[in-house]
Amino acid sequence: MFYTIILALHSVLRWLVLIAAVAAVVRAGQGWLGKRPWAKLDDRLGLIYTSLLDTQLLVGLILYIFLSPLTQAAFADLGAAMREPTLMFFAIEHIFTMVVAVVLAHVGRALSRRAAEGAKHARAALWYTLSLLAMLVAIPWPFLAYGRPLNPFWMFGG
Ligand code: HEM
Repeated sequence: MFYTIILALHSVLRWLVLIAAVAAVVRAGQGWLGKRPWAKLDDRLGLIYTSLLDTQLLVGLILYIFLSPLTQAAFADLGAAMREPTLMFFAIEHIFTMVVAVVLAHVGRALSRRAAEGAKHARAALWYTLSLLAMLVAIPWPFLAYGRPLNPFWMFGG
């Protein structure tokens, strides 16, 4: 039961993280192309995005280390897991690429805050886009062999 709730939380947070990432990227891109001065909202969006992503990292690590039957199965027999696409994806590819996405987002926020006034939007746009792309690559989309539904409450039969 606890596993199902945490899995649902991870699945809901996926959408919030993606919305925040797109908002941060669009706003940075507009600011860059339109040469708009850096505003408080630009910094706020970066903060919201990195905070949601950090929360997702924490929830994901709880699944990964303690709760997920997939990672438990993978840890029990790593050799066999490497030959099973679903276990391989969740035990290695998903966590690795998502951690990269977290790092890219934090680099983007740090560099955009530190950059000179005229370079802030460009830094944010570049690094947040890379972070978003990493996430898009590592999400278990329904059309993939190991994919999951788009509905974040699928585990409750919704
Ligand atoms: C940052 C570190 C992350 C870790 C350690 C992690 C870990 C995991 C694990 C272990 C699972 C499998 C759970 C199971 O079925 O038993 C999972 C599923 C999933 N993860 Fe992550 N994750 C991370 C980040 C993310 C991010 C950033 C996103 C999207 C923004 C994401 C989206 C998903 C989705 C959509 C699923 C499938 C959920 C479902 O079955 O409905 N994860 N994650």
